[in-house]
Amino acid sequence: MRNIEVCVSPELIHLYDTKEKNVVIVDIFRATSTMMAALANGVESITPIMDLEACRDFASKGYIIAGERNGLAAEGFELGNSPLAYLNQAYSGKKIAMTTTNGTLAIEKTKEDAHQVLLGAFVNLKATAQYLIRQSQDVLILCAGWKGKFNLEDSLYAGALVNCLHPHFRTDCDTAIALKSLYESNAHRLQIFLGQASHAKRLQNQNIEADIDFCLTLDMYQIVGVLTGDLLKGVLPKTE
Ligand code: MLT
Repeated sequence: MRNIEVCVSPELIHLYDTKEKNVVIVDIFRATSTMMAALANGVESITPIMDLEACRDFASKGYIIAGERNGLAAEGFELGNSPLAYLNQAYSGKKIAMTTTNGTLAIEKTKEDAHQVLLGAFVNLKATAQYLIRQSQDVLILCAGWKGKFNLEDSLYAGALVNCLHPHFRTDCDTAIALKSLYESNAHRLQIFLGQASHAKRLQNQNIEADIDFCLTLDMYQIVGVLTGDLLKGVLPKTE
């Protein structure tokens, strides 16, 4: 039977084997939620880039550049990291180069060995679970966290995905067991529970509440975000 594990920080990824696994990167506030909003609203592709200046250089190659550091939009970039900027097909057909504080780093740390890298977000939770159930590989969920530290929102999502994949996957990972239980105890009050998360407070202090509500909306999209080469693209999971 396939196995599922959870790693709560990119700082711990060296303790896990990512080879030939489907790795789900999760950064609820806000990177992976924003990436899913962009792909679901017609963006052609997203190029995730760890380095701010390397991302800035993509503007000269005709890309829309999106950047965030410490929750704030990066200076001189067309976009920050709000999912709301992509709604209503605002950037349909465009190529986006994106850099964020934690999310793009987590992608960079896993893309070499993984069988596939996917985006994890509440806005397409069921679609991602459906997709993984149809694959034959083991799954590793990597939480982007905050600058190497555990964070509540990514960890709760990990618990939600473990819950969705049960009983198709077994787990002997204590982190997965603990977070599944944390999610099951708080699934009925996501907004209240995650309203106390440190990054939610950071965003509230920057008057970015609307983004938080968006990122906690369940199953708005039926597509899955998949890294193909260096590009993130939207894929519709097969149902039959
Ligand atoms: C991150 O990568 O840490 C987040 O996406 C930060 C944010 O968007 O506020």
